[in-house]
Amino acid sequence: MTVPHAWPALSGIAYGGDYNPEQWSRETWDEDVVLMREAGVTLVSVGIFSWALIETAAGEFDFTWLDDLLDLLHTNGIAVDLGTPTASPPAWFFANHPDAQVIDRDGRRMGFGSRGMASHSSPAYREAIVRIADALAARYAQHPAVVLWHVHNEYGVPVGEDYSPHAAVAFRTWLQEKYGTLDALNSAWGTAFWGQHYIDWGHVNPPTIAPSVVNPAQRLDFARFTDHQLRACFIAERDAIRAHATQPITTNFMANQSWTTDLWAWGREVDIVSDDHYLWAADEDAHIGLAIAADLSRSVGGGKPWILMEHSTSAVNWQPRNIAKRRGEMARNSFTHLGRGADGILFFQWRAGRSGAEKFHSAMLPHAGTDSRVFREVTTLGADLGRLDELQGSTVRAEVAILWDFESFWAQDLEWRPTEDVTHAAQVRRFYEQLWRDGITVDFALPGHDLSGYRLVVAPAQYLLSTADAANLTSYVEGGGTLLVSFFSAIVDENDAVHDGGFVAPLRDALGLTVEEFLPLREGESHGLDGAGFDDVIADVWQEDIALEGAEVIARFGGGPGEGEPALTRHRHGAGTGWYVGTRLDAAGMRALLHAVYADAGVAPANLPDGLEVIARHGDDAVYRIAVNHREEDVELGAFGTELLSGTEISGALTITAGGVAVIRTTP
Ligand code: GAL
Repeated sequence: MTVPHAWPALSGIAYGGDYNPEQWSRETWDEDVVLMREAGVTLVSVGIFSWALIETAAGEFDFTWLDDLLDLLHTNGIAVDLGTPTASPPAWFFANHPDAQVIDRDGRRMGFGSRGMASHSSPAYREAIVRIADALAARYAQHPAVVLWHVHNEYGVPVGEDYSPHAAVAFRTWLQEKYGTLDALNSAWGTAFWGQHYIDWGHVNPPTIAPSVVNPAQRLDFARFTDHQLRACFIAERDAIRAHATQPITTNFMANQSWTTDLWAWGREVDIVSDDHYLWAADEDAHIGLAIAADLSRSVGGGKPWILMEHSTSAVNWQPRNIAKRRGEMARNSFTHLGRGADGILFFQWRAGRSGAEKFHSAMLPHAGTDSRVFREVTTLGADLGRLDELQGSTVRAEVAILWDFESFWAQDLEWRPTEDVTHAAQVRRFYEQLWRDGITVDFALPGHDLSGYRLVVAPAQYLLSTADAANLTSYVEGGGTLLVSFFSAIVDENDAVHDGGFVAPLRDALGLTVEEFLPLREGESHGLDGAGFDDVIADVWQEDIALEGAEVIARFGGGPGEGEPALTRHRHGAGTGWYVGTRLDAAGMRALLHAVYADAGVAPANLPDGLEVIARHGDDAVYRIAVNHREEDVELGAFGTELLSGTEISGALTITAGGVAVIRTTP
């Protein structure tokens, strides 16, 4: 088979969304394609939930409507991202294979009438997904409309973990392959504790609910197993498609909004990363969470351009309070994704559905029709993106990396930790947020990656750190890097067992310390710090007894159980520096800390007006700065070059209107 395309056969920035015409009459399709062209749509995802209408009974296929649809789209110059519908098996499948239903951790069987895949370990499901992927690829691999394959939908959501008998059998096999012997499993899981020693593989089960907390190493392995099984489903479909087709193959991730899949491993399996992102209404700075999603999507794809496969034009319909996007917000969201490396901006979905569970979800073409704010903004965005063809393929560069390790997150968020006030997601967000406010673009990385290209590496939540990865971080510092580590990092190894030598021991050389004891604070308790530049800082949630082994103390706890003890340290090691923060700092503290660390690392904050986000994409002959104004007033940005949306030349400064966006091309 020929090497797959690195990028779909499309020119410019792709624009469009999920298209579910099977919910509409044939006349509506004709209207849709006319309106899509009016809106500047170039790419639509089809077939994602169409299994029941394509394979009408086991092994019986009806392609007539899909043939007609793909021809219609192609005639109208709209390219297709063809979905495999395996996220929603038909009623006949579950009637034939009731044993393929997912069972959750509480032992509840997941019924039909919704969506969500069958058991990832069910042999019947595995056979059925390959059959339909093969049939679709055999029929449409040569269809000129198809430029991309979209396997499944959001693996791990709404069901990832499965505790069914099929999963139990597969879990045992996976464990046998991993450990070889029961002795090795007993040792890795620490089963001497609470008398869990196993003498027979048949006694080992998924970690269902139990009278008390279940063995954390068992749960961590089950998370790894779940990720592995879901990925095996993807690989089976991908390979079935690849046997016929040369177009690139993707599956839509949920970057920082689902934790079931280890996207670093998935990033190696897809031809192109694609991601779905939805704003969290309760987050007043949801655009910062969005930026994390975009940077993570780019990072797991190795820095290559990626596709925003879904976001919303306005409100979603599945949060407690579904906040509508206001004027310009959809464009701001889109341009942030674009600035952070997306070469496709797509939505869920093209036309708002009248029936079913998602009828209150916004769409490109809302229930209100074309004479609506949303459709006008959709059309404007399509036209704006149409002016940016030259950005396609340009890339984002970062001098700073934040460690993002799904395995560590899985382990850290289990029960019975020192405090429930520390979660990995909140920790990452605090550090990222300060970098965002300083206008510093960030990549995400694993602790085992080659980090030598970064001036600064931040470890906000690296609870699980293998000895090998700790050695990698240490040599990064020795080689001249600046490493900033936050409390509750380097605590356990890959089996969730505390490191020999105690907390933080694997990083003692890089940081010049270990930690003797955690001193979590009561709810609402907070204390000041003592130290030049940190006297006005308040810290909460966590203190600890740091045992210095050479590190210099930058600030001490001003009160609380650790009063007078080190809170913040700096350590020269080799040609680099290891910083450590043993508490949770307020916003002023984060600013003071990061600015001190930037000085060591040689990183310069961008000094932008508050609320102005600027990201650069680098092309062969030009740099493109994407500016997104999150403020309600105009701001000035110093710039030279051409603003591509308006075509105006800038010499010195550009006004970015309140809530507006700009794309500035500068040629060296
Ligand atoms: C996504 C999903 C879409 C749609 C959307 C609504 O997670 O992939 O099918 O349900 O959410 O926000």
